[in-house]
Amino acid sequence: MTSLAKTDALQNLAGTIALAGAGKMGGAMLTGWLAGGLDATRVTVIEPDPSDEIRAFAAKGIQLNPKTATAADTLVVAVKPQTFHEAGPALKPFVGPSTLVVSIMAGTTIAALEEVCGGRVVRAMPNTPASIGRGITVAVSAKSVSAAQRATADALLRATGSVEWVDDESLMDAVTAVSGSGPAYVFLLAEELARAGVEAGLPAELATRLARETVAGSGELLHRSKLGSATLRQNVTSPGGTTAAALEVLMGKDGMQQLMIRAIAAATKRSKDLAK
Ligand SMILES: NC(=O)c1ccc[n+]([C@@H]2O[C@H](COP(=O)([O-])OP(=O)(O)OC[C@H]3O[C@@H](n4cnc5c(N)ncnc54)[C@H](OP(=O)(O)O)[C@@H]3O)[C@@H](O)[C@H]2O)c1
Repeated sequence: MTSLAKTDALQNLAGTIALAGAGKMGGAMLTGWLAGGLDATRVTVIEPDPSDEIRAFAAKGIQLNPKTATAADTLVVAVKPQTFHEAGPALKPFVGPSTLVVSIMAGTTIAALEEVCGGRVVRAMPNTPASIGRGITVAVSAKSVSAAQRATADALLRATGSVEWVDDESLMDAVTAVSGSGPAYVFLLAEELARAGVEAGLPAELATRLARETVAGSGELLHRSKLGSATLRQNVTSPGGTTAAALEVLMGKDGMQQLMIRAIAAATKRSKDLAK
C-alpha cells in the first residue's frame, strides 16, 4: 500500500478511538495515526504516566485521561500483558457490544481479551521498527469482527509499517518469536560483529561503527532490492574468498541455522507459556 493510500485509509476512518497505554508501542502507533491525518479529536488516550510528546498531542485535540469513560468504536490495547490483569477490567467502560478491540499485547489470546474486555477482538503483534514507520505487524481477527472493522484495524496497524493477516491464532506464538522479538536478534548481530572485530584487532569505536552501518545498510539493501536474501548473500560471496571462509563457519554444523531454530523454538515456547 502506498503512503498516500495509508493516509486516505486513516483520514477516512470512521468513529472514535480509545488507546489504552501510550508507552513505546502505543505512542508509536498514536504518532503514526496523527502523522497519517487521523482526526485527533476522535482519539482518547488512557495513560497514567504520559510522556511530554503524548501531552503535546493533547494540544492537538486528543483527549487525555478523560474523567468519564464512554464506549468507543475502537479500543486499542497497548499496555503490558502483566498490567492487563489489573488494567483490563477498568477498560470495560470503553467497550460496547460492537466495539472493535485491537490488542498488541504479547501472549494474550482473543479468548482472554473477550473475557476481560468484551467487544470484537483483533489480536496483533507489531515490532519496534514501528517507531520509524518500518514495523511489520501480524494480525488475526475473531469471527465476530466485521469486514469494515477489519479494515479499520488494518488502517490503524498499517500506520506503523506493513501488516500481514493470518487465519490461525495459534501461529501468533511463532510470529512473536520471529518478527515481534526479531529486532533484538538483529541488534545482537551488530553487537557480536563489533565484538568479533575488536577480537580481530580493530579499535572498539571503529568496529562498532562498521558493524552498525553494515547491519543497517544491509537491512536497507534487503528492503529496497527485489532479490531474495540468499541471492544477496551469494552476491557478496566469491568461491574461496574471505566471505566464503566466514560462511563456512556460520553455515557449518552448530552454525546459525541450528542456533536460530533453537532460539525461535525457545521464544515460541515462552510465548505459549505466557498465554497459559
Ligand atoms: N516493545 C516491543 O518490542 C513489542 C513488540 C510487540 C508487542 N509489544 C506489546 O506492546 C505492548 C506495550 O509494550 P511497550 O513496549 O510499548 O510497553 P510500555 O512502553 O511499558 O508501554 C505500556 C504503557 O501502558 C501504560 N499503562 C500502565 N497501566 C495502565 C493502565 N491501567 N491503563 C492504561 N495504560 C497503562 C504504561 O504506563 P506506566 O509506564 O506508567 O506503567 C506504559 O506507558 C505490550 O503488551 C507488548 O507485549 C511490544
